[in-house]
Amino acid sequence: MSVPAPVKWHDGRLTLLDQRLLPGRVAFEDQPDVASVARAIRDMRVRGAPAIGIAAAYGMVLAERAGADLEQSAEQLRATRPTAVNLAWAVDRMLRAHAACRDLLAEARAIHDEDRAMCEAIGRFGAPLIQPGANLLTHCNAGALAVSALGTATAPMYVAHRAGIPFHVYVDETRPVLQGARLTAWELAQAGIAHTLVCDSAAAHLMAENAVDLVIVGADRVTANGDTVNKIGTRALAIVADYHGVPFYVACPSSTFDADTASGRGVPIEERTSGEVTNPLPAPAGVRARNPAFDVTPASLVTAYITDMGILPTADGFLRACA
Ligand code: MRU
Repeated sequence: MSVPAPVKWHDGRLTLLDQRLLPGRVAFEDQPDVASVARAIRDMRVRGAPAIGIAAAYGMVLAERAGADLEQSAEQLRATRPTAVNLAWAVDRMLRAHAACRDLLAEARAIHDEDRAMCEAIGRFGAPLIQPGANLLTHCNAGALAVSALGTATAPMYVAHRAGIPFHVYVDETRPVLQGARLTAWELAQAGIAHTLVCDSAAAHLMAENAVDLVIVGADRVTANGDTVNKIGTRALAIVADYHGVPFYVACPSSTFDADTASGRGVPIEERTSGEVTNPLPAPAGVRARNPAFDVTPASLVTAYITDMGILPTADGFLRACA
């Protein structure tokens, strides 16, 4: 697998891969200070729940080195994207490390390393779900570009592929930012995993044709009752999968679990600019558009969570681990 790492710390510098330019251009950008990290997260140069958490952790290192107020820097980072819990989780962990006089760079590196290890574990636990000849469907990008190492939803795919299991993945294009078409299809191509790009609205038809054996998606947050917040369109996909009896798996590291929020109703859903919806379309000038970036899939529609702690049929396993 040769997808470039989305977040890198080397020689005292933080570098982010500009994911807005993929797959056409692979370009990296140094981040001189916490304000530029916050901008990069808001503009989605770096995106994906775990990756924005890791970038924010290194952002806190930059803030400390510049002598900035760490509480204010944390607030600046938290305010960039409200939905993915990993961002606030990572920033709060950095504040706790500072309060305990621990080395912030070591803490950020630990967050990064733990993330890689969690992806490997998700891959190991999830790979047996992929039987020879299986057809999978995934939404958005919960791959190496959104996380580190193997990604989350893609981790079982990479591990199964390494083991020589033949399978095929339908990739939802994922309107409006096209993370599926631009990023997941690119990642799978680099890995040599067979895949087919489809528009988001094709899922029901494919399932009616018995063309999909299982769905695996990532998550930006899983609440205490197991509700799953992920890229807009995930809820519709889960409803359609339920109707057709197709298993619907959520792959997520424990850093995505939010034990403090009872259900999806308590999660702020990011609204992005309407331009992301209208720009590529021949829509009438001035048309009104809304752009909710995420939605909530009720726990009842999730077959199981593929986590670094194993395959959990409900969110209780997370709750026990976090107790
Ligand atoms: O808006 P994005 O591209 O940051 O949204 C990303 C997703 O919704 C992913 O599915 C999620 O963050 C999981 S990444 C492992």
